Amino acid sequence: MQVTLRIQRFNPDTDTKPYYREYTVEVEPTDRVLDALNLVKWYQDGSLTYRRSCAHGICGSDAMRINGRNRLACKVLIKDLGSRITIEPLLGFRVIKDLVVDLEPFFAQYRTVMPYLINDEPPPIRERLQTPEERELIEDTSKCILCACCTAACPIFWTTEWLGPAAIVNGHRFLFDSRDRATEERLAVLNQRFGVWRCRTIFNCTEACPRGIQVTRAIEQVKRRILFEQS
Ligand code: SF4
Ligand code: FES
Repeated sequence: MQVTLRIQRFNPDTDTKPYYREYTVEVEPTDRVLDALNLVKWYQDGSLTYRRSCAHGICGSDAMRINGRNRLACKVLIKDLGSRITIEPLLGFRVIKDLVVDLEPFFAQYRTVMPYLINDEPPPIRERLQTPEERELIEDTSKCILCACCTAACPIFWTTEWLGPAAIVNGHRFLFDSRDRATEERLAVLNQRFGVWRCRTIFNCTEACPRGIQVTRAIEQVKRRILFEQS
């Protein structure tokens, strides 16, 4: 089948503002949007710029707006979109070029939640064990691949400084880890002025997550944990 990709282009070295350019490619219905983008780049316009790496929904690098929704280009099939597809960069971040956005502010927020295990107790001979029930508490938020689909879908993030859904998901992942010992420090970060309380429970983040993480539920669990620890 033939599909027409309507792609937002922008090169800050030569363009004063973004514009759209259309490309028509021949694809199989079961091809992914990433396959169609590759056909454009390899055979029609080598200047088209986008991130991708694993091509299997694992690295999180090819998040973009596809027909208005934040998706991973390597996970969306052409047959689910039709013959005309609009592709734009994620909202809320500076565009570096075409579909590539500057994710440094995203990763700066991620780093503030201390996304690593903190436990100064002497390590056991083998490993720090968890029960299945303890593991279950972090099962969902452990799946995050840091694609930024959730944070870029959040209208609060577009307009206000705040941690954003992805940073809170990763804060949750360690806050609820039974092996971690930094609860107080973690709650201080998540409870700050730009922390979880800026969430207005809009659910855009949950809808956008390609890993199916219940992002809004994780944010609510962090809010409850803060209230519980303070009472
Ligand atoms: Fe991506 Fe989901 Fe992680 Fe957000 S929570 S960064 S949408 S994987
Ligand atoms: Fe790795 Fe799509 S290229 S998630």
